[in-house]
Amino acid sequence: MFICDNLGANADGHLTFAGQDTAALAARYGTPLYLMDEARVRHNCRVYRDAMRAHFAAGSRPLYAGKANCFAQLYRIMAEEDMGVDVVSCGEIRTAEKAGYDLANAYFHGNCKTDADIACAMARGVGYFVADNADELAAIEAEAARRGVRQKVLLRLTPGIDTHTYEAVNTGRVDSKFGAAIETGQAAELTALALRQAHIELTGFHCHVGSQVFAEDVFERAAVVMLEFIAAMRDAHGYTAQQLDLGGGYGVRYVADDPVLDIGEKIASVAAAVHAACARLNIPEPAILLEPGRSIVADAGLTLYTVGAVKRIPGYKNYVAVDGGMGDNPRFALYKSRYTVLPAGRMDAPRPLDCSVVGRCCESGDIIQENVPMPEDIRRGDLVAVCTTGAYNYSMASNYNRVPRPPIVMLRGDESFVAVRRETFDDLCALDA
Ligand code: LLP
Repeated sequence: MFICDNLGANADGHLTFAGQDTAALAARYGTPLYLMDEARVRHNCRVYRDAMRAHFAAGSRPLYAGKANCFAQLYRIMAEEDMGVDVVSCGEIRTAEKAGYDLANAYFHGNCKTDADIACAMARGVGYFVADNADELAAIEAEAARRGVRQKVLLRLTPGIDTHTYEAVNTGRVDSKFGAAIETGQAAELTALALRQAHIELTGFHCHVGSQVFAEDVFERAAVVMLEFIAAMRDAHGYTAQQLDLGGGYGVRYVADDPVLDIGEKIASVAAAVHAACARLNIPEPAILLEPGRSIVADAGLTLYTVGAVKRIPGYKNYVAVDGGMGDNPRFALYKSRYTVLPAGRMDAPRPLDCSVVGRCCESGDIIQENVPMPEDIRRGDLVAVCTTGAYNYSMASNYNRVPRPPIVMLRGDESFVAVRRETFDDLCALDA
């Protein structure tokens, strides 16, 4: 009945999330409000960790991709759950550091790291750099030489695989802005270049084929292409890669007709492809890394809003406007992403009204979701919940229209606490001269 088993309804007709009454949480913390279910985050981490330990070579592990959602409390959980992390900026690095996360377990991504980024990451002891291109490799070599260290590096490659997800997140193809293509020979050139650097220790290769991926076999095919490349580099240079990072991307269920992926089964299937390819190519199995973001945090998140206005345009359309919008969740505006939207305070009411749930920003595209079924008499003051907002909502939030960002409240057992406080108007003006 619900899209995730951390959702429910209680005797008062209120939506529950992680066993807590969302109406009570809205009353206590105000709206708009992001909620995070800590037990769900930990559960999702353990599914990856346990399956990877069971199926892959020693040293294999999941890295949480902080771009999906980044705040200090999450890195504390990642440390406790023995997760590595994927970081893409000094902002993410500093957040992890602030949380006391050991940056030796961090992998620094990005296709355009500046000299300042590289210096900041090296100074803070980030364990691994994932180099995207030759310009960056040279900059990493120069900084490592200046510091007199040997930096561990993986190279980002494009295996030439189309994941058939939405365009903005389809990254494995040869023409991608990310990485060096295997097909064009540029990946082999970048490898030869990396192996010549005195201050770079090449530990292996990385690819990330896309996000919100449900298509069959994508990760298996990517693994085989990458392992064939590893075998070719062994033949060309006598070089043995220790690590193969297959990136993130497994899809999550936003609406009832999305499939449910069994991550444990998916990992077992990738492992079977890895075992077979390594045996065929006669190469040792590298440690496998995966970088899940969305599938760690998406279903651990929920957003609560209060209705501010209901507008019926007879013969045309119905609008339910809420006190947040594209500032806290730009994903419909960007990708037409689908979400399950519920009347959190009136779960037992029939929902015959077809409406668009829209935000408060001065822009027609500020839509949370279209064709949402709502109670006929939905009105100002009612609560609206948007499910599965734990990934790429807070991390992509903006202050458009100078609207403060909502707080993040963590739910743990019967307790709740503020993990990120609500932005204030003073915060908004803090940078103004
Ligand atoms: N690793 C790399 C190198 C990535 O670029 C990404 C996502 C991930 C891991 C994590 O992928 P995930 O497991 O979360 O799919 N803003 C978009 C998603 C952009 C994903 C970018 N890269 C959205 O809201 O759908």
